[in-house]
Amino acid sequence: MVYLTRVETFSAAHRLYNSNWDEAKNYEVFGKCSHENWHGHNYELHVTVKGEVDLDTGFVINAKMLSKIIKEQVLSIVDHKNLNIDVPFLKNKFTTVENLAIGIWNILEEKVAEWNASLHCVRIYETPRIFVEYYGENKI
Ligand code: NI
Repeated sequence: MVYLTRVETFSAAHRLYNSNWDEAKNYEVFGKCSHENWHGHNYELHVTVKGEVDLDTGFVINAKMLSKIIKEQVLSIVDHKNLNIDVPFLKNKFTTVENLAIGIWNILEEKVAEWNASLHCVRIYETPRIFVEYYGENKI
């Protein structure tokens, strides 16, 4: 079993806000991410797939093909978008990097399987020092 990771980037706007709380409580919990007029992040998306090495190509998956899948299935939905308004899989959800990772996993899992590999991990950096990893456990 070999693991291959493809890295892509995208930029998006969002706001983290719980409508049951007042501004002060929202700022306490979400900090600058609660700002009412939106703000953006430059996200880094790491998609790791696993599989056996193909005898004809030496690949687990064609990395160029994986990039194409990510661009067509994910980046087209989230890049330069407002995550609170534009992204169907985040509708009525907090636009956290956690929920982004789960949504992206749900999109990519079947697509990767079509290429004789399986999705292993979706890792997303919201900032260079904050990232989440989702392995499809306790799938929502
Ligand atoms: Ni933010």
